[in-house]
Amino acid sequence: MTVSVRSQTGKKGVFHMNIVVLAGGISTEREISIVSGTMACRALRGKGHKAILVDVYCGDSRIDIKDGTDRCFPETYDVEAAAAYMRFFDGQIEEMKRTRREFFGPNVLALCEAADVVFMALHGADGEGGKVQAVFDLLGIRYTGSGALGSAVAMDKELSRKLFAADGIPVAQGIVLKRGDERRPAAENGVGLPCVVKPCCGGSSVGVEIARTQEEYEHALEIAFGYEEEVVVEQYIEGREFSVGVVGGKAYPVIEIAPLVGFYDYKNKYQAGSTIETCPAKLEADKTAEMQRYAEMAYRALKLECYARMDFMMAKDGSLYCLEANTLPGMTPTSLLPQEAAALGMDFATLCEHLIEVSLNGE
Ligand SMILES: Nc1ncnc2c1ncn2[C@@H]1O[C@H](COP(=O)(O)OP(=O)(O)O)[C@@H](O)[C@H]1O
Ligand SMILES: [Mg+2]
Repeated sequence: MTVSVRSQTGKKGVFHMNIVVLAGGISTEREISIVSGTMACRALRGKGHKAILVDVYCGDSRIDIKDGTDRCFPETYDVEAAAAYMRFFDGQIEEMKRTRREFFGPNVLALCEAADVVFMALHGADGEGGKVQAVFDLLGIRYTGSGALGSAVAMDKELSRKLFAADGIPVAQGIVLKRGDERRPAAENGVGLPCVVKPCCGGSSVGVEIARTQEEYEHALEIAFGYEEEVVVEQYIEGREFSVGVVGGKAYPVIEIAPLVGFYDYKNKYQAGSTIETCPAKLEADKTAEMQRYAEMAYRALKLECYARMDFMMAKDGSLYCLEANTLPGMTPTSLLPQEAAALGMDFATLCEHLIEVSLNGE
């Protein structure tokens, strides 16, 4: 299979592409990114593309761009060996951070410039937050997912909440605390208990705590401030949780997320069997349509491009609340967005290819 892209003259053509699947990095989500990248690289190879897996931070000093594109993007390629090479650096990242100033690893930018497109399999602050996208924009490198501005805004839960509210997308009542701000008791802070405390720019539920008592609230603040300078405190919405992908501006089917124990924390996100995921979600047609409409509105409100996945809570009375937008959501075959695509009859490899097509066609 091949990707059909409109050329600059507006003609549609069909190409096999040289693709860098960019993964790894130094965020708290490095490990998940390596899994997404490995799966996406294998899937794109299966579609006939010359995809290679590259760690944005550790790079690959074994490949030299001067050897020519054919050597950098070989016909036969061992994806597992490439993933093992990335993992080889896992224990060395902290040491590398101490001794190196530049973010991009050896040969990374040269390989990305040589590729037809970069498939972004990064998750977390460094790759998802817009800085890599800004560098790519300046260098003329094409990539999947949102641009620098949308990525940066979506990474910041405080800014996202403000833009959602301004566009009529419902959000839970909340406040933002900066380190050093006066901390009033939960009963007097305007949100009350129970509440959810989360680092402003985190992901994968890292540092997210539900507080039901003043003691738990104080403890949750300590945890969240251990990660960041700014923390969002939000009214706890008791009810059901959902997520909705938007690709090229159009909502995919709604997926329901029901952890067997507790909320959708880090463990429940990544431990197989800990969460029941149902797609399409068992919801009335009008609720489904309402959530999909809010997801599309949220995508527009944050100026997102190509694709994203919006998280929602539905309270017991049926009212919906948008929690956040994920600009580079998990991309393993069992991740939420790929499950939504599967409900449309689109397999994982076709979805990966479709995201490239959407990004190159500027949708
Ligand atoms: N206001 C809320 N009410 C109830 N649960 C919440 C609320 N905010 C977050 N959660 C729970 O915490 C999880 C992580 O929060 P989210 O805002 O999506 O941040 P992250 O970027 O870490 O995914 C959600 O998937 C949900 O289970
Ligand atoms: Mg989330």
